[in-house]
Amino acid sequence: MAKLAIKGGTPVRSEPYPVWPIWDSAEVDAVRRVIESGKWGMAAGSQVKELQSRFARYQDAEFGIATSSGTTALRAALLAAEMEEGAEVIVPAYTFVASATAVIESNGVPVFADIDPETYVLDPASVEKVITGCTRAIMPVHLAGIPVDMDALEKLAREKGIVIIEDACQAWGSEYKGKKMGALGLAGAFSFQSSKHITAGEGGMTVTNDKDFAERCASVINCGRSVEGAWHMHVRLGGNYRLTELQAAVILVQLERYEKMLARRQESARYLTERLSAIDGIRVPILPEYVTACSRHFLTLRYDPGAFGGLPKDDFVKALNAEGINHTHGGYYIPICRQQFLLEKNVGPFEEIRRHKFGSKVIDYADFQCPVTERACSTEAVWLLQNLLLAEREGLEDIVRAVEKIRENCEELLG
Ligand SMILES: Cc1ncc(COP(=O)(O)O)c(C=O)c1O
Repeated sequence: MAKLAIKGGTPVRSEPYPVWPIWDSAEVDAVRRVIESGKWGMAAGSQVKELQSRFARYQDAEFGIATSSGTTALRAALLAAEMEEGAEVIVPAYTFVASATAVIESNGVPVFADIDPETYVLDPASVEKVITGCTRAIMPVHLAGIPVDMDALEKLAREKGIVIIEDACQAWGSEYKGKKMGALGLAGAFSFQSSKHITAGEGGMTVTNDKDFAERCASVINCGRSVEGAWHMHVRLGGNYRLTELQAAVILVQLERYEKMLARRQESARYLTERLSAIDGIRVPILPEYVTACSRHFLTLRYDPGAFGGLPKDDFVKALNAEGINHTHGGYYIPICRQQFLLEKNVGPFEEIRRHKFGSKVIDYADFQCPVTERACSTEAVWLLQNLLLAEREGLEDIVRAVEKIRENCEELLG
């Protein structure tokens, strides 16, 4: 009789894992107060302003500019950086698509670098190889909350007059050498989308220490208005990327309980790293010494199909889910530089990348070689989402038991 649940055996776990978002009457009361105040938009209310200053302080930044999403937070930062048409921005190939689309939508050209094989975040050595005379920015993405090696990037950037705009959409509370992410370079963007650890369904924030930049950013997200100017006066191209008072009220409550949840995920990640790393065929990224805190947005396993009889990662993930370890998936499946819209340059009115010269020829995204990203996407990376990291010890034990069970019985799924 089959042992694996996917083949009809008994699953390791029948209890559900914690659901996300976690909320209580505090969020309901906060929203009710805003509704009853009648001040639902940021111009009239106090919640967005309060959130901007509290979140910026939390991230060790001087200024926060709330936005409608992480995508618009990135876009606002790139537009406020006032780069010229065709400015190249170096982005990791292993990230969410918004890191690259925000560049295109600000008339820039995304250029792709590979990730570090241990941590899966932007590899400065790979960045160095794609810097050209047109590079104007580097966008480190602190994936899963693991900070990129900022000193190494800073050194490259300083030498060439390049700015750093962090995609910190997954890195609330992560620290590089004791300092929170977001304003280590010129600016950083955060997301409060529904899967994120601090959420109002949607929402975002750009943070910076640069006052003029903050003002430009605030203008970009507010239809190009100037800070002091009249409502119908517009000084630059902008859009309505504003967060609502209702969302800000929810995020403020979520921020209150963030540290407690962070500590829980960090402890779970520590425990799982120790237990899962002991299983042949599973590696869990070791955090570099410079990481003094990691948000643990998810925990990445580096899966080696060879140690599981050649079982492809997709089948491993399906088997894990069947064992009751849901909230597990294979992460990004396609490197961004291999996405159809980039290969075909299907980028609407943003003409620049159809003619942009990268080296001696017009940029062709098929030319970018990012082997570590390819491997992570196709065979190696398996993500354990935050629901699992919020579980009690028994729930963590079940993850270990399920991985061991699949390894011991993988022949049931082969041939
Ligand atoms: C790394 C990264 N960048 C950008 C974004 C975009 O954020 P949002 O979904 O809030 O637009 C996300 C979130 O999905 C993300 O994970």
